Amino acid sequence: MSAEIESVLHENRVFDPPAAFATQANVRGMDAYRAMVAKAEADYEGYWGDLAREHLDWIKPFTRVLNWDHPPFARWFEDGLLNVAANCLDRHLTTWRKNKAAIVWEGEPGDTRTLTYQELHWETCRFANALKGLGVQTGDRVVIYMPMVPEAAIAMLACARIGATHSVVFGGFSAEALKDRILDAGARVVVTADGGWRRGAVVPLKDFVDEALTHCPDVRHAVVLKRTGHPVSMTDGRDLWWHDVVAGAPSRCEAVAVSPEHPLFILYTSGSTGKPKGVVHSSGGYLLGGIVTMQWVFDLKDTDTFWCTADIGWVTGHTYVVYGALAAGATSVMYEGAPTTPHAGRFWELVEKHKVTTFYTAPTAIRALNKLGDEWPAKYDLSSLRLLGTVGEPINPEAWMWYHKVIGGGTCPIVDTWWQTETGSHLISPLPGATPIKPGSATLAVPGIFADVVNDQGKSLGPDQGGYLVITKPWPSMIRTVHGDPERYKQNYWGHFGGRYYFAGDGARKDKDGYFWIMGRVDDVINVAGHRLGTMEIESALVSHGKVAEAAVVGFPDDIKGEGIFAFVILHRGVTGDDALVKVLRDHVAHEIGAIARPDRIRFTEGLPKTRSGKIMRRLLRDIAAGRDTQGDISTLEDQKTLESLRED
Ligand code: PRX
Repeated sequence: MSAEIESVLHENRVFDPPAAFATQANVRGMDAYRAMVAKAEADYEGYWGDLAREHLDWIKPFTRVLNWDHPPFARWFEDGLLNVAANCLDRHLTTWRKNKAAIVWEGEPGDTRTLTYQELHWETCRFANALKGLGVQTGDRVVIYMPMVPEAAIAMLACARIGATHSVVFGGFSAEALKDRILDAGARVVVTADGGWRRGAVVPLKDFVDEALTHCPDVRHAVVLKRTGHPVSMTDGRDLWWHDVVAGAPSRCEAVAVSPEHPLFILYTSGSTGKPKGVVHSSGGYLLGGIVTMQWVFDLKDTDTFWCTADIGWVTGHTYVVYGALAAGATSVMYEGAPTTPHAGRFWELVEKHKVTTFYTAPTAIRALNKLGDEWPAKYDLSSLRLLGTVGEPINPEAWMWYHKVIGGGTCPIVDTWWQTETGSHLISPLPGATPIKPGSATLAVPGIFADVVNDQGKSLGPDQGGYLVITKPWPSMIRTVHGDPERYKQNYWGHFGGRYYFAGDGARKDKDGYFWIMGRVDDVINVAGHRLGTMEIESALVSHGKVAEAAVVGFPDDIKGEGIFAFVILHRGVTGDDALVKVLRDHVAHEIGAIARPDRIRFTEGLPKTRSGKIMRRLLRDIAAGRDTQGDISTLEDQKTLESLRED
């Protein structure tokens, strides 16, 4: 941790909001920001209550803003009624936005589609009726396992319309991971496609669904969108084509009034134990967080073309491709494929083609695109851009400067947004027309969010002291529970400081100006290409292979991905570790979890450094994986020889 503090301490450049940006911004200048913070401090509930009345359409207005009678189980706006799909679509149909582009979509092969708010409404209603026809009711769970096509958003909105809770599973996850999520969510219907395009090849999603469903007896139907046209097997009675179920379905469908606390979706994320957590989000509070950050952080204007490059399988795609973006009335760009297919300038080509004004991506993508050379962005006219954003991990100053100069032409503010699957929307981020930006810092809390850095005892720390990043008050878009495991929610997120603070695993420090600098995870979670992976999950996957006796996984620094995956593996007696087995094990993990979890390096070893109580000393393994000298106290190490042999290899 201290090494990282040292390196960022040298970063002292400050970029004020360009005057031209600040004068037109939704939040203009630091005084405006401070006034909002002061209002939230003075009357926390009044502040959020006003915003909820202003930004959400209520079927029945609420009278109580926050019920925090049973912490950490928050209930926001609980006696109101609303519908999320109506807030994303219907509200725009009575305005000029009716014919505004809601989704501008581009497929990897270059096919495009634009759906206006009116059209998106029709398609959503038709699919909602189709789901009802399949017996899906309010409260049921639906798993969505799709490529980045408009129908993925339509499926999500259709669920919201009828009050079904969706769980989107990222299309890069394996059949095994899909199965676990279908079972945990208790879904009866899965929505998928014959495939999606990725790097010029078809991702055979339906084949993975078929494999998963052999273990999911409760799934009654799979609805299959024809996207690629490649052959798939359809099980009679269970599998139905999307085009068949919507054929003849009416393009009107009542938006079911639900409680703002009704679970809009479950999204699985990694924690420090082997089992992914089903993060449950609400309807009202979640949507409010998305809308206000679209306004404040992304400074949304009706003239914007907003492109968040995240897949809808991640929370970023949920909030900033679909819900927050649409509820705020944005034109949201959606792209199916890889950033470098068919050529290394694809992202920039799309910026030029669609005249994107706001571009939001992950540092890992920025580093990868930077490496490909300045000639790629130079080929395209990027002058439509006015605001850039990043999310997923700290952005290193070099990548920041490249993004700023080469992509943003030196004029676009960059919003470095810190948040998590659990937080639902941005919690710490610059507001681009107000906050002076320091490259590498997510800067200050969004107005209405109260964040701090504390020590083990929960005591607030002074400037530049590294500690734990906590949120000290509940907020509307916060996680409500872990699906099926409220105790895990309580322990995991609120158990560290006697229930006083929310803590989800990041280390941080605040500088003398109160700016937050995120220092990475403090638990057994690694951040690979902006996505969280639990080391335990990868270890379990390795150990599930017959030749592996024990495994320990740690992250190591990787130029592009932020962190790579390093696995130390102990084999069963008599098994020889060779290159062929390395390949087998890497593929095995990809099969169990998905390609994203495939270890970059595997090292066979006879033993692992453990404490006398049997706990693996991961910090030593991290040093070895990074090629550093092992540092710090090793007096609790049981067997010095193991460490020595690992060092020698
Ligand atoms: O460690 C933080 C890092 O990503 C984690 C959340 O991961 P996930 O739930 O997958 O959500 C990613 C997208 C919202 C955090 O605990 N992280 C996210 N954004 C930043 C970040 N670290 C530093 N700076 C950020 N801007």
